[in-house]
Amino acid sequence: MRDLAQNSPDGAAAGAVAGAPSDAVARQKAALRGRLCAARVALTAAERSDAGRRLRDAVLSLPEAGMAGTVAAYFSIGAEPATRSLVYALWKRGAYVLLPLLRPDNDLDWASYEGPDSVRPRPDGRHGLVEPVEPPRGPDTIARADLVIVPAIAVDRRGMRLGMGGGCYDRALARVGPLIATVALLYDGELVDAVPAAPHDRAVRVVAQPSAGVTRLPL
Ligand SMILES: Nc1ncnc2c1ncn2[C@@H]1O[C@H](COP(=O)(O)OP(=O)(O)O)[C@@H](O)[C@H]1O
Ligand SMILES: [Mg+2]
Repeated sequence: MRDLAQNSPDGAAAGAVAGAPSDAVARQKAALRGRLCAARVALTAAERSDAGRRLRDAVLSLPEAGMAGTVAAYFSIGAEPATRSLVYALWKRGAYVLLPLLRPDNDLDWASYEGPDSVRPRPDGRHGLVEPVEPPRGPDTIARADLVIVPAIAVDRRGMRLGMGGGCYDRALARVGPLIATVALLYDGELVDAVPAAPHDRAVRVVAQPSAGVTRLPL
């Protein structure tokens, strides 16, 4: 297996739990994912949209958002905080917005958002994803973004991020330069002391939460 840590742009692989076998880390991640997802599922649609509005305002207040020509973002699914109004607002402000398309190998491709009619539910229904209809520009396109907004279930004080378990954003974030703001959108309480991490995991540099607003990491 190739050494994934060599791809780290910022030494994020240092977040590995020292000495912990990778299957133990995977089990710890699954347990934390289960707990936090159960709490998310209990939220109402109104709570998800309210969180989405507050997160939109927090992200738009970032200096990096004001300066960004290209923003990589995502369309929320399921119990995630709603991101539609953020994606729309970034586009309305004139940013070139990229949205991901999930590839069969769990890497992410990227295509442009050109307004509400430029996305549609994925034809195969996978994960209930809503994806852009514009032509995909390749997995490396994320490297062009001046601001990268990613989903997460939890982030810790180092910036280590827990995702849905596909490792898609570990692959994508490995292509993002060290000076780019990478922002994870969380509910309140999901910025935690420690997230189990393996050498392939990539950190984020900022989190946004509905009440707490923006936090820059590491703390
Ligand atoms: N860059 C990569 N190349 C190959 N496999 C990867 C890469 N990044 C992550 N993975 C794999 O994806 C799987 C899920 O990763 P994990 O970090 O648990 O998910 P998530 O980040 O979504 O929480 C792991 O088995 C991991 O080995
Ligand atoms: Mg990961």
